[in-house]
Amino acid sequence: NNKGKLIIAAYRLPFKIVYQNNHRELFQNSGGLVSAVLSLSTQKNYPFSGNISWVGHSENTALELQELTHEAGPIDAIPVTIPAEINALYYEGFCNDLIWPLFHYFPSEANFDKTYFEAYQAANQLFADKIAEITEPGDTIWIHDYQLMGLPALLREKFPGNTIAFFFHIPFPSFEIFRLLPVSWRKYLIDGILGADLIGFHTNDYVRYFLGTVQRLYPQYEQRLHYLNLGNRLVEIDAFPISIDFNKFDDAYQQPEVVKIRTEIKQHIPHKIIFSVDRLDYSKGLLHRLIGYELFLENNPGWRGKVTFLMVVVPSRDTIGQYQQMKTETDMLVGKINARFGEINWQPVIYQYRSLPFEELAAMYSASDVALITPVRDGMNLVCKEYVASRHDNRGVLILSEMAGAAAELSEAILINPTDNDDTANAIQRALEMHPDEQEGRMKALRQRLRIYDIDTWTNDFFAQLSSLETEQERLK
Ligand code: UDP
Ligand code: G6P
Repeated sequence: NNKGKLIIAAYRLPFKIVYQNNHRELFQNSGGLVSAVLSLSTQKNYPFSGNISWVGHSENTALELQELTHEAGPIDAIPVTIPAEINALYYEGFCNDLIWPLFHYFPSEANFDKTYFEAYQAANQLFADKIAEITEPGDTIWIHDYQLMGLPALLREKFPGNTIAFFFHIPFPSFEIFRLLPVSWRKYLIDGILGADLIGFHTNDYVRYFLGTVQRLYPQYEQRLHYLNLGNRLVEIDAFPISIDFNKFDDAYQQPEVVKIRTEIKQHIPHKIIFSVDRLDYSKGLLHRLIGYELFLENNPGWRGKVTFLMVVVPSRDTIGQYQQMKTETDMLVGKINARFGEINWQPVIYQYRSLPFEELAAMYSASDVALITPVRDGMNLVCKEYVASRHDNRGVLILSEMAGAAAELSEAILINPTDNDDTANAIQRALEMHPDEQEGRMKALRQRLRIYDIDTWTNDFFAQLSSLETEQERLK
């Protein structure tokens, strides 16, 4: 094996250190990127040498992280320090007050502030400088997500001989949306991404939109299937739908701690359970989901008192205005539904605003009769895949928004349009009344697909593609 090490670059390190009652504990950061990429550390056919070097922003020091992360697997956590005033304009600004809303098709929520863009460039440069300190010949650098679109080009300039890969975890929008960005910003972002050798997206649509955008900005680049010829370099763009650690969720079904929590949940809620878990984010469709559930209760008096919606919302980006507003609106709507339909011994919605340890998450997935996953836009959505993997018993019904990247793979779910409240209400009724044989048929098909296309297949596919691209680039030299 003559490969060097793998360097991962992502906005966040996979863990943060939290001080509790005078002792330090390692906590996994939330979100699909960390869940998926972290699975690399347990992979059997890992094609690189040594530990993974994971470079990311952190409030903890290198020393603190060094002492604790060895517990978490073969990962060297390397923090990038971003001064607070830059980070505010970069992370809360450009990343989450502009790119996130724009790329999730909420252009009216996007703020095109020039200082945001300057901070974005500065932060990407800080990542490049940190990575430059640890990069050696033969290393592969894998950059993740919308916070680091400038980074591939910055590293390409410094390390022309290293392999650089990029993966985009959120939707890439059509040109009509992308062109809302000022021309110089568009070029910085596209030039930045094109610094990579292999560029991955979750779906073929996102690949198409990205290639279409490149075509509009640079008609001179020759496009052949998934390849782009930049004149001096060949770049490949392809779809790699991200997945989950299927066995981890499947095995959890019988884990004693999970069984215990599941039994407790079922004792406390002695009727049908509808479940959802998401970060608090306007892209997740929480309000539409609640309105759909309210309509279902309105239309189906017979179900009142016989079903509970267990809605877990994981705190996220709570320093940003739109997110604080979402929290207020969600709190109010839950209160309204519970006040309207609640009874002494029945609460229509049980709402929790917190993050869940793995065992509790696995117990909730396997305790619920229906998973109601209704983002108005989502790059992939791993929660719906985790639900399926958790159903070792082949039971349960998945209701899934057609706006999630995952919908392209999970056709046996009940697919709905999340902004159509009637559609949601009808789907809930249909799911609750679905015959066990039909549940089993659908669930088996879904599980079979995810068992094969799990997170290891995803990384293997990505690395195999990277290695055949390296061969092709070598041949063309
Ligand atoms: N998750 C988490 N903390 C929790 C509950 C869930 O980190 O308290 C995980 C969940 O298991 C899943 C991820 O967060 O792997 C959410 O990924 P998804 O792709 O659904 O959405 P994202 O948050 O990335 O937009
Ligand atoms: C999504 C994004 C990730 C991000 C995560 C959590 O999964 O694709 O890049 O890290 O959400 O969001 P946060 O802003 O807390 O990092």
